[in-house]
Amino acid sequence: MSRSAHPAGPRHADVLPEGHYTAPPTDLNALDPKVWANTVTRNEDGVVSVGGIEVTRLAEEFGTPAYFLDEADFRARCRAWAAAFGRDADVFYAGKAFLSRAIVRWLKEEGLNLDVCSGGELATALAAGMPAERIAFHGNNKSVEEIERAVEAGVGRIVLDSFQEIVRVAHIAQRAGKRQRVQIRVTVGVEAHTHEFIATAHEDQKFGIALAGGQAAEAVRRALKLDGLELIGIHSHIGSQIFDMAGFEVSARRVVQLLAEVRDEHGVELPEIDLGGGLGIAYTSEDDPREPHEIAKSLTEIVTRECEAAGLRPPRISVEPGRAIVGPTAFTLYEVGTVKPLEGLRTYVSVDGGMSDNIRTALYDAEYSVALVSRTSEAAPMLSRVVGKHCESGDIVVKDAFLPADLAPGDLIAVPATGAYCRSMASNYNHALRPPVVAVADGEARVIVRRETEEDLLRLDVG
Ligand code: LLP
Repeated sequence: MSRSAHPAGPRHADVLPEGHYTAPPTDLNALDPKVWANTVTRNEDGVVSVGGIEVTRLAEEFGTPAYFLDEADFRARCRAWAAAFGRDADVFYAGKAFLSRAIVRWLKEEGLNLDVCSGGELATALAAGMPAERIAFHGNNKSVEEIERAVEAGVGRIVLDSFQEIVRVAHIAQRAGKRQRVQIRVTVGVEAHTHEFIATAHEDQKFGIALAGGQAAEAVRRALKLDGLELIGIHSHIGSQIFDMAGFEVSARRVVQLLAEVRDEHGVELPEIDLGGGLGIAYTSEDDPREPHEIAKSLTEIVTRECEAAGLRPPRISVEPGRAIVGPTAFTLYEVGTVKPLEGLRTYVSVDGGMSDNIRTALYDAEYSVALVSRTSEAAPMLSRVVGKHCESGDIVVKDAFLPADLAPGDLIAVPATGAYCRSMASNYNHALRPPVVAVADGEARVIVRRETEEDLLRLDVG
């Protein structure tokens, strides 16, 4: 990300302090469609609306902080992914990005499958009527109970993550008198260009079984011998918030190589490969994500080419986008509580949420955009840091962004692209009440996950 010194608003020195910001935008009232959900617009009265409803009305009805999710945008993204991959591939939405019963119903209606990674996510999927055969079960340490429930429900696949799990799942399936369809997750040894905590295909981390040293080939050997398992393919997930397709290409190539080795050794052509999720989205105007059809084209081409070279029938491909589907569809709405200019530094804007509703800035140094949404302003840009109300100086929502210099308590500001990994990673730190998720479509708003109450907190506190 570029970094430059620019004259800021009247409250600031001529040279801006160190930070990851670019020039102040020429128009602070403009909303870059790259980072905002599809139906977000600024109306003539200056108020921003989503799904045809103004944020001022939404704040009145649902309170702040709250996540507002553009249902039409979510459905359109599901359709774009399904269409891009077509009939010969499967799209599994990664529920860890954000999951609720409404989301499951929308996925079902739009023809997507679902990747779950815990008993809780599985329960949500089943409760909302996702057919079990359209569910994939993930995780590096699934409990025996979780595996039993997944097998009993009849999930379409369990992704095996370790040698112990190969035996564990086989045993559980056999005891249940079933043959469980499984994939083996391999680590292809790719360094994905993303934050260390969300890169998953280099060797020194907890997921998968390494291709290196013949580990993955040994896993296949063992899985093929066990009666309780039907090995349907190989899985690879290289990380998250990735823009560069190079890592996916290397991963696809190495997975196909393994398929060829398996064919040579066992005379078996495994019918499927899963290339995981991880496609990046725009959090700021600087980010340039790829469209689903471009991603589908490049993945399909590479798999076809590699299979031709190896004399293999191309396997059925599946992918698992989470962030790329739900991330851009929601924003978090906050009310400004205090505005504190620090001479020569920046202005601290405190909002009524914080790291409890968006931990990503503190955890991954993530960058976000922000805009004043309850009115327009012609005031000069003011270098701002949007912070929460938690007892911690790292409680930062947006590290460096420009807001108008006349920003005042009571204004509503919104942080876009918070649909993924914000509500799903929200916490009760400082006994904060986790915000609701409100779906907005065609002039109607409806709570899909309600706001927590103090009663909810006290109900768990049984001492
Ligand atoms: N498939 C597997 C096996 C995964 O582990 C993940 C994400 C996905 C698919 C979906 O990845 P996506 O398309 O959403 O990037 N909390 C972090 C991201 C962690 C991702 C974990 N696995 C963040 O907020 O950036």
